[in-house]
Amino acid sequence: ADEPLVLGIETSCDETGVGIVRGTTLLADAVASSVEEHGRYGGVVPEIASRAHLEAMVPTVQRALDQAGVKASDLDGIAVTAGPGLAGALLVGVSAAKAYAYALGKPLYGVNHLASHICVDQLEHGRLPEPTMALLVSGGHSSLLLTEDITSSVRSLGATIDDAAGEAFDKVARLLNLGFPGGPVIDRYAREGDPKAIAFPRGLSGAKDPAYDFSFSGLKTAVSRWVEAKRRAGEEVPVRDVSASFQEAVVDVLTRKAIRACKDEGVDHLMIGGGVAANSRLRALAQERCDRAGVTLRVPRPKLCTDNGAMVAALGSEMVRRDRAPSAFDLSADSSLPV
Ligand code: KG4
Ligand code: ZN
Repeated sequence: ADEPLVLGIETSCDETGVGIVRGTTLLADAVASSVEEHGRYGGVVPEIASRAHLEAMVPTVQRALDQAGVKASDLDGIAVTAGPGLAGALLVGVSAAKAYAYALGKPLYGVNHLASHICVDQLEHGRLPEPTMALLVSGGHSSLLLTEDITSSVRSLGATIDDAAGEAFDKVARLLNLGFPGGPVIDRYAREGDPKAIAFPRGLSGAKDPAYDFSFSGLKTAVSRWVEAKRRAGEEVPVRDVSASFQEAVVDVLTRKAIRACKDEGVDHLMIGGGVAANSRLRALAQERCDRAGVTLRVPRPKLCTDNGAMVAALGSEMVRRDRAPSAFDLSADSSLPV
């Protein structure tokens, strides 16, 4: 039997994503990003993001349908990110999804952004085993999530108490004058630096600290102090070593806590998602530590890790397959929607 054909819309931050999947098969992944418009502000500006979504929505839906080579009338459902995310940005996606669902007479599925970041891995590695531990690291969130049922039971074990992991990359890149977004640049510089050059602090990794929460603001402050001291002394800042040492501190804590959660909960699959999952050192260290712990690691390709519509479609398709109830047409965007 054919698996459900679903179109997914994602507008929680600065990417207008429209994806189409059939079950676990990716048919289209169209993304329009306003990241360059935010670059000069050093971060995402909500009003600019909302306007860009509005302008990009219809052409991006059309592009996805063309890419997939399917007719809108053949869809089994329309899925959309209902939250968490920027309120105004989410609203554009939810309104568009309602309009398409209503006009086409298709069921509407409001889904959680974090659960979609997990579910997207199905498009790369096939159906996700349950339970799976998920480490979600992006510009907006850093969470450890125990996934028992991707459509109805994703339990948060821990999250950041201050900055998200990607936010830390972006802030450190800014203080090194490397531009925005910072993650990819730091990743690149770090490859030529020494991760042991500077001993930066590992936040919340003491014996008495919460086992699964993260904190990156102390690390950011430590990097800032270290760089300022160099500048004050009139010395050149070794950007490659700072990048490598900072990055090592982040990925050390992330991987250590993720593996600990797998062991404590008796889970033998770990997936890593979100924009920071594109980080080459995070991927390598996670693989090394998973191998040692007997845990199977699943990381989708970078394009699927960052925000996109295919991840929403993947979760929508899973909802249809599992006969989950569609959302009512009064579905609202919820900027702080819990998993
Ligand atoms: O998931 P995403 O595209 O958007 C959300 O925040 O939801 O993630 C973007 C974040 C940015 O903070 C960016 O700096 C970070 O992911 N990022 C990286 C890398 N590529 C993107 N961080 C570290 N290393 C990378 N290679
Ligand atoms: Zn995201």
